[in-house]
Amino acid sequence: MRTEIAIIGAGPAGLLLGQLLHTYGIDNVILERQTADHVLGRIRAGLLEEGTVALLDEAGVGQRARHEGLVHRGIELAFDGARHRIDIHGATGKTVTIYGQTEVTLDLMNARKAAGLATIYQAADVRPRDFDTDHPRVSWVSDGAGHEIDCDFIAGCDGFHGVSRASVNPQAIRTYERVYPFGWLGILSETPPVSHELIYSNHARGFALCTMRSTHRSRYYVQCPSDDHIDQWPDDRFWDELKRRLDQKAVDELVTGPSIEKSIAPLRSFVAEPMRFGRMFLAGDAAHIVPPTGAKGLNLAASDVHYLSGALREYYGEKSSAGIDNYSAIALARVWKAVRFSWWMTSILHKFPEQGEFGARIQLAELNYLVSSKAASAALAENYVGLPF
Ligand code: APR
Ligand code: PHB
Repeated sequence: MRTEIAIIGAGPAGLLLGQLLHTYGIDNVILERQTADHVLGRIRAGLLEEGTVALLDEAGVGQRARHEGLVHRGIELAFDGARHRIDIHGATGKTVTIYGQTEVTLDLMNARKAAGLATIYQAADVRPRDFDTDHPRVSWVSDGAGHEIDCDFIAGCDGFHGVSRASVNPQAIRTYERVYPFGWLGILSETPPVSHELIYSNHARGFALCTMRSTHRSRYYVQCPSDDHIDQWPDDRFWDELKRRLDQKAVDELVTGPSIEKSIAPLRSFVAEPMRFGRMFLAGDAAHIVPPTGAKGLNLAASDVHYLSGALREYYGEKSSAGIDNYSAIALARVWKAVRFSWWMTSILHKFPEQGEFGARIQLAELNYLVSSKAASAALAENYVGLPF
């Protein structure tokens, strides 16, 4: 078998890259370890920057996000018993769209199927090979038999635990990491959202976030100890804890109901440098992780894919290597800015074990400054809607 680009991983990064390359006439095959249903069963964040929606349009899959997505022009910050609105649109002229990652993935999978593009699901033991030569290939096992595909380039879009980054010579890669001393317990419920806009709450008991997937489906999170297990959090305990971290108006308006999904996610910041190793590129979670505060994960995967697809288009269309040679530096410059923003939002909103009363007061001072200074709220807004790419 042969293709131009062998893509490892059918998450949002791999699927979006495949779709964009297809529109540029570049042949690609995706190898995915799981089944499509398994990939679609993972609940992740659901907030798209305008740049991400535009990229979905470019890939021909933006229609449903534009039609069904909820456009938001502001967010609310809750602290000290009160809520304060940040006018994101007023500060930037831009909006964000609430549209679940699962829906993005489904739209991309449907478009891929409709275009007749090859995706090999349940590919076991996938291995990128010889990417430091001019003849890279990827091997895998399907139905007990070994297979191989020759390609021009490999795109490692296989997430944080994938095989692509792990296949690189440790001498050639540098990683930067911060693990936060807490997790996010999230639930999805078939209930109307408590508020039209997202509420980010800093509370002495820990952070809470009220978000949504639609006008009738809500997503709520509370900060919890990293080693908590989901069995310790029956629905009633979750709702009680959420209410304790919200203002009275929100408590009065909150509609509770049975959870239809519940999970605990660890919080981590991680960056691997560079994002290119010979004829293999990394994109999305394979190269970097951000804590979910600010919902930058999927949007960063999209900006990586924008840079990488553009570079490959230039390579095939103009026979120029300039784009692929610059990919890592350009992508990392934006990645680090989002890593900083996600770290900063995490640090002002969560309760840290070591912060003490001094740290808690500093957080409140910063939040008060944020909601009272035009310059400070504009800086938040500019990052929240996504830096340009
Ligand atoms: N072989 C083949 N596929 C693999 C392998 C492997 N060894 N390891 C992982 N994968 C697949 C996973 O099963 C998954 O479907 O790669 C895909 C990676 O998808 P994501 O983890 O979703 O990562 P990415 O596409 O970069 O998406 C980035 O979406 O998933 C969120 O938190 C993430 O919001 C971030 C954004
Ligand atoms: C979500 O909708 O899941 C979400 C939204 C905003 C965030 C994090 C998660 O900052």
